[in-house]
Amino acid sequence: MSREVVVGVAGELAPGQRKLAFIDGRSIVLFNLDGTLHAIDNACPHNGSALASGQLEGCLLRCPAHGLRFDVRTGCMPGTAGLKVTTFPVGIVDSKVVVSLDEPHAPTQAEARDAATNQEMERCKA
Ligand code: FES
Repeated sequence: MSREVVVGVAGELAPGQRKLAFIDGRSIVLFNLDGTLHAIDNACPHNGSALASGQLEGCLLRCPAHGLRFDVRTGCMPGTAGLKVTTFPVGIVDSKVVVSLDEPHAPTQAEARDAATNQEMERCKA
């Protein structure tokens, strides 16, 4: 059963911006990519480094520790079926930003395949 947690207000994050939210000891990073909100766990699945300060290239976030890249929309690494960062459903409810915590989104096989192609990277930059 999912638990919805308010982490901000609608319009708080402009496109291209990000913010950290701390909920029950968990750190989550919110991104506004071209007007769409995305939420990922702040811990890199490689070695646990914080992802919040990573460089964003289109929809790909580069971990500041060792440089692995993750698609913030799917959590997947491009070009490989390797590690995945946990993503969370996020949306606007009654003018508030709400994250669903108890049901991390596991990418579908189709999403993983899409993220693994260079076309996906090009599309997210458009
Ligand atoms: S901890 Fe993120 S790439 Fe190593």
